[in-house]
Amino acid sequence: MTSTAGATERGRGATAVLTGLGAWLPPRRVPNSELCTRMDTSDQWIRERIGIAERRIAEPHVATGDMAVEAGARAMASAGTATVDALVLASNTPDRLCPATAPWVAHRLGLPAVPAFDVMAGCSGFVYGCTVADGLIAAGAARRVLVIGAETMTSLVNPDDRNTAPIFGDGAGAVVLEAGPPHAEGALGPVVWGSDGSLADAIAVPAGGARGRHRRDRAAPEEHFVHMRGNEVFRHAVRRMTAAAREAAARAGWELHEVDRLIAHQANGRITSVVADGLEIPAARVPSNIGEVGNTAAASVPLLLAHAADEGGLKPGHKVLVVAFGSGLAWAATTLVWPAGLAARR
Ligand code: UT7
Repeated sequence: MTSTAGATERGRGATAVLTGLGAWLPPRRVPNSELCTRMDTSDQWIRERIGIAERRIAEPHVATGDMAVEAGARAMASAGTATVDALVLASNTPDRLCPATAPWVAHRLGLPAVPAFDVMAGCSGFVYGCTVADGLIAAGAARRVLVIGAETMTSLVNPDDRNTAPIFGDGAGAVVLEAGPPHAEGALGPVVWGSDGSLADAIAVPAGGARGRHRRDRAAPEEHFVHMRGNEVFRHAVRRMTAAAREAAARAGWELHEVDRLIAHQANGRITSVVADGLEIPAARVPSNIGEVGNTAAASVPLLLAHAADEGGLKPGHKVLVVAFGSGLAWAATTLVWPAGLAARR
């Protein structure tokens, strides 16, 4: 997309600049000890193998759209605006299979008639959504876009499955992106993104979509839950995140040793460590919140940004490298220089 050196690769248009950041987590905390009461696992295993101590779980009446509204309102307050030109909602857990959740979120946010649509790109969905917003801004289709990542992962997770239940959590984060010059602090840098549909089954919900309609009445209950080949996904996550992050930094004109903060999708603490090691970015520059919120899929990156901004990890002028990976398979990485005067709302 753009180069932070100031030259624009696309030759026209403005760049998306970060002006607002918000997050919302459901209040209910579920510690590992609670999971141990219903499956064969242990607090020690989950901490050591995934890096999670507890996750937040939405109450049954709270859905993705509700959390998206909370995070979106906070991001708009953070940006000091009550209006946007478009709303992009990244989620793997929309309120319904049809219609998209974004128009309802826009309605609830008091944004009548704005274009609003969902993006599904696994745990990379938020970075994909920001890239789409950047394109809308560059094309002149919008000047200010609200991008939300929101998930009710507990709606897809079998609460008794030790392969998935310890990993995932619920929550939402959001940003406001506004048209600005490519050299501005907060401007999104070049994106490196991709997908590999040959591994579509590696993280998937077998039932509920068009492909399973011929056997709708015969689908076993567990087919409505997410299934993951964890080991295999782990290996691809490390490889793709490392390569995409490395290339995004290079395309921004940054040496890896210049990166002040690596914001990595919180898939598994060990994945983040291996990726950071591969990039030779010291652990002190790699914020993490997986211990408290788990893997929140498309909500993970904005939740981590809000966490790091609020708790002092992100400072104005910091060179921030962002990378995500998830089902699809799909991955994405980009860069930005952290802007001054941005107060996250949580
Ligand atoms: O968000 C983006 C997409 N998702 C990811 O990127 C997640 C990627 N994958 C992972 O995070 C990890 O693969 C998991 C957390 C899912 C699994 O961790 P692992 O270290 O890859 O475990 P494993 O599947 O290799 O299993 C190791 C052992 C096995 O026992 P044996 O065969 O060595 O005796 C498993 O049966 O750990 C056992 N195990 C468990 N033990 C206690 C697997 N899950 C659990 C568990 N509690 N929850």
